[in-house]
Amino acid sequence: MSKKAFYVTTPIYYVNAEPHIGHAYTTVIADFLARWHRLAGYDSYFLTGTDEHGEKIAQAAQKAGQEPQAFVDKVSNRFKEAWKKLCIEYNDFIRTTEPRHKKIVQEILQKVYDAGDIYYGEYEGHYCVGCERFLTDKELVDGRCPDHGTAPEKRKEGNYFFRMEKYREWLIDYINSHPDFIRPEGYRNEVLSILSEPIGDLSISRPRERVPWGIPIPWDENHVTYVWFDALINYVSALGYPDGKKFHRYWDSAWHLIGKDIIKPHAIFWPTMLKSAGIPIYKHLNVGGFLMGPDGRKMSKTLGNVVDPFDLSEKYGPDVVRYYLLSDVPYGQDAAVGESHLIARYNTDLANDLGNLLSRTITMIEKFSDGKIPAPGVAESPDDELIAMAESLPEKLETKISHMELNAAIREIWRFIGRANKYIDETMPWSLAKNPNQKERLNTVLYNLAEALRITAVHISPIMPNIPSKIFEQLGIADDKLSTWESVKKWGQLSPGLTVSRKEIIFPRIDEKAKAKEAEAKGKQKAKEDAKAEVKEEGANVITIEDFAKVELRIAEVLEAEKVKGADKLLKLQIKIGDERRQIVAGIAKHYTPEELVGKKIVVVANLKPAKLRGEVSQGMLLAASNEESLTLITVDRDIDSGARVK
Ligand code: MSP
Repeated sequence: MSKKAFYVTTPIYYVNAEPHIGHAYTTVIADFLARWHRLAGYDSYFLTGTDEHGEKIAQAAQKAGQEPQAFVDKVSNRFKEAWKKLCIEYNDFIRTTEPRHKKIVQEILQKVYDAGDIYYGEYEGHYCVGCERFLTDKELVDGRCPDHGTAPEKRKEGNYFFRMEKYREWLIDYINSHPDFIRPEGYRNEVLSILSEPIGDLSISRPRERVPWGIPIPWDENHVTYVWFDALINYVSALGYPDGKKFHRYWDSAWHLIGKDIIKPHAIFWPTMLKSAGIPIYKHLNVGGFLMGPDGRKMSKTLGNVVDPFDLSEKYGPDVVRYYLLSDVPYGQDAAVGESHLIARYNTDLANDLGNLLSRTITMIEKFSDGKIPAPGVAESPDDELIAMAESLPEKLETKISHMELNAAIREIWRFIGRANKYIDETMPWSLAKNPNQKERLNTVLYNLAEALRITAVHISPIMPNIPSKIFEQLGIADDKLSTWESVKKWGQLSPGLTVSRKEIIFPRIDEKAKAKEAEAKGKQKAKEDAKAEVKEEGANVITIEDFAKVELRIAEVLEAEKVKGADKLLKLQIKIGDERRQIVAGIAKHYTPEELVGKKIVVVANLKPAKLRGEVSQGMLLAASNEESLTLITVDRDIDSGARVK
């Protein structure tokens, strides 16, 4: 039987900035997915690359005092170097300035033009260079781009337009009939909400005299291709569309991975472009949340809260950074990241759970079995539980990963590691060793532990590609057949008799004391600042206008609501503030049902430090009035767009 195909892509990154954690996050996920599918028997293909045209690149080159081509060559290479540092193994790296890409962009443009879906017209609108697109009035917040905080330029120019509106109804039907096309679900609802109103046509060219850095429009050399129309096509040009073997092999299975800020081009521009060009639609759009600084705020150099994955990788190694990013952040949600979070996870999951399982097992085999993995003998009930758990892991992982529940999938592996550690405590090999009658039982336990470690090593290979060989080395395994997917589906593949050898500790504990000292120094500084702030006003109830202005109140729309498990007062809401999506947890379950809330426009405090309530992140607070018996939400009495500031 021929293998199933799996194709995964990252966004192609703009070369106006150095690689950062936002890029690394999506790329690590793509690499994990590519490796996991390969392990699980798929013919897996992973594409990444760089987006090298457009105004912002031309501006960045100019600022650097370089010719655009020389500039993009240099920065594109930095991405390649960065990916090496994180052990990213892509199959192809596409650059939009390559001839193979330009040719296909022009062919697709011509196809769409010939289909009658492109016309020439005048356009007037607000262009955000940061987003490289016109923003609608609805998208602006206080006249500014919500993502970049800058006021877009008002522009009027002659452009070619793609008849995107013509495909709106079709796209709505497509999304409705393919429930997992866009996921997680909140983002799908967001797209459907955009599509519930006219989307207009898409300007797909720029006058060449203003933006010379781009791909010429095939039928009019006075215009170049709009950067998003050009960039999106990378996903098929890299496969050699239309005739390439790779295109036929992989395209139908495409999973795009993106961040939530570029959902509109991927969920609306791209499928309508494909439809018009007669190309089948990709399989899934997977939308990730944003990684925030350790303080829960958007990372920025000014705030000094930028977390650099490459620095962390130098310090702790690429495997640890990959494990941290994959296991700590629930896919689709925003999450605060930072070194102290990484250390906490490292010490618990890697040093304690996995590291200890390995060192305890090796030590016991050395001590109680002359350093050789014994043949198993008498089986007892804890063995069955361990074995059943191991044998059910592959299927569990497959289900979770196919739904993009990545951190839940990883948790399953760690539950198994936890079970194996518990197995040691239950079976107490050290006491079995004291009784010669229990020799066979002891052998079984030691064999099972070695087998559990082998299986764990295989499962973690897509997450931490350099660790399995270290575990195998200590277990004395040299046979490649023992690292296949087939070999983890059935317990007992490990052949007895291998000689184990203790090597360096794979995950030595990180001394938190040193870290704590650092944090304490920072904390003292903060306490001083807080104290200063407290003394400021005698009458604590009196605040100034400036004080009030610090509280950012905004209108938010409730997209989804659900109860928080195990907390009868709490509801978890997915809300939209302008373009931004957030989760808040509120103590209103006794007063509102989840259904009642969906669609409501409420008022939220938008600049609160995120907090965790019952393990759920809450990124804001809603306003409500209450007395002893009743509670009512503060809503608006006329319709107004979410994101509007309450002043
Ligand atoms: N060039 C376009 C993509 C074209 S794809 C046909 C682009 N490039 S980008 O370099 O600006 O951004 C790439 C990705 O990085 C986006 O998906 C964006 O969401 C992601 N991130 C940037 N900062 C981020 C975080 N802080 N956290 C998570 N991802 C974020 O857009």
